[in-house]
Amino acid sequence: MTVVVTGGAGRIGSAIVQTLCQQGHKVLLQYHTSVHQAESLQVQWPHLVSLFACDLLDSIQRQEFTQMISGRADIVGVVNNAGLFVRNPLDTWSHEIDQRHWTLNTMVPMEIISAVQFSLRSHEGAVVNVVDNVSHHTPWPNHAGYAASKAGLVALTRSLAVELAPHIRVNAIGPGIVLAPEEDDTSVSHLRSKIPMKRWGIPEDVADMVVFFLFSAKYCTGQVLAIDGGWSLSP
Ligand SMILES: NC(=O)c1ccc[n+]([C@@H]2O[C@H](COP(=O)([O-])OP(=O)(O)OC[C@H]3O[C@@H](n4cnc5c(N)ncnc54)[C@H](OP(=O)(O)O)[C@@H]3O)[C@@H](O)[C@H]2O)c1
Repeated sequence: MTVVVTGGAGRIGSAIVQTLCQQGHKVLLQYHTSVHQAESLQVQWPHLVSLFACDLLDSIQRQEFTQMISGRADIVGVVNNAGLFVRNPLDTWSHEIDQRHWTLNTMVPMEIISAVQFSLRSHEGAVVNVVDNVSHHTPWPNHAGYAASKAGLVALTRSLAVELAPHIRVNAIGPGIVLAPEEDDTSVSHLRSKIPMKRWGIPEDVADMVVFFLFSAKYCTGQVLAIDGGWSLSP
């Protein structure tokens, strides 16, 4: 049985792949530019990781990917993790940037779920969509299109949970700010004091909950779980 992970060679994506492999699951890892990271994961887990290179914003490459996964009968889980986060202030607003947000963050997950629904259904499988807790509770200026695209993914999660029940569970996880350990000194460091747990998230915080939703949360669908150290609770 195989789990599809999009953006599986990125910061959070590679932690999801590592956690799945550590638990013995096979992974179909989609990547775009992170060639070295993707190949390293395959070298580390030669019997568990298979790779598929693809620009999900390119309609032809995307179709090749969805056709390939739709022909597989062993897909038991999907993690829609690939995402785009580009600053797009209203005074210089670019339709093209927000079109890319909408395509990658919202429509691509829909296409992927549609492509693998029969395999997921036959295995009583699960989908986990990676959304963004910050954009829901603490809207950021200059990122309205990104926030809307992730809010769309939340709506998609809830709607498909109803549509695909009882055979496929569809949930979402909403990270707060998640950084790789070497990235601590950033322009957002002043925000850390607002987080009750007083630290950034690390990719493994997210990965653990993705695996929980995929394989353990058997009576849970249509939910969005914040993984933000309590940030969304702070005044
Ligand atoms: N990090 C955070 O603080 C945070 C907070 C809230 C939500 N999130 C969400 O968490 C997810 C992972 O984020 P991350 O922090 O791990 O970011 P990241 O390291 O930049 O990963 C983003 C992933 O998306 C993939 N991707 C981007 N454009 C693509 C395209 N055109 N075609 C195919 N794949 C594409 C990238 O693949 P390649 O690297 O192979 O190009 C990359 O693996 C995203 O959905 C993001 O919105 C992150």
